Amino acid sequence: MILVVSGTNRLGSNALKIARQVWAIHQAMDATAALLDLTEMPLGLLAPQAYERKPEAFAPMAAAFLKADGIAMVVPEYQGSLPGALKLFLDMAPAPESFEGRAFCFIGLSAGGGGGVRPVEHLQQILGYGKAHLYPERVFLPKISALLDADGRLRDEGMLERLRRQAAGFMDFVRRLRAA
Ligand SMILES: Cc1cc2nc3c(=O)[nH]c(=O)nc-3n(C[C@H](O)[C@H](O)[C@H](O)COP(=O)(O)O)c2cc1C
Repeated sequence: MILVVSGTNRLGSNALKIARQVWAIHQAMDATAALLDLTEMPLGLLAPQAYERKPEAFAPMAAAFLKADGIAMVVPEYQGSLPGALKLFLDMAPAPESFEGRAFCFIGLSAGGGGGVRPVEHLQQILGYGKAHLYPERVFLPKISALLDADGRLRDEGMLERLRRQAAGFMDFVRRLRAA
């Protein structure tokens, strides 16, 4: 099962719009694909006590993350890096089992021209530290507002094709890792 993670908890997030499309691409190849939306992260996760005792509402999110065979991270650029909400999610996920030997792929997006290279590379560094397997073909979506139509959907056929190719390649990567 592939889990698509929308990498921010901002309301009206473009990352969530893209994550929904990436999820649909994965679902067309494997109906079990799922979406993890960080707006569902309990606010109590930021409490000082949360390091010792996680809020109950975090358990299903952590379980979904752990259950996935592969995780597609959709990461927007915030202050030249990844959103703090995503880093908090990763800090609170059970370690090392959430990361070690797990397969990840990356889609970056930004308001500016960078396309999310910086947050993706920062995230690759974090997950590399956690001994994850990082699928090398990344997709970057610069100037995201111009790429989305009035319904918040990506219509650029070239970009969609890149996402489809990445999804197919990532599935193969996940299958090979499982077989190894
Ligand atoms: C707190 C914050 C910081 C941001 N920093 C950057 C940035 O450093 N570079 C950039 O190109 N866009 C930046 N943006 C714009 C986001 O990349 C843009 O909102 C994009 O739509 C993806 O994020 P979203 O999922 O929150 O919509 C920032 C947005 C927010 C909310």
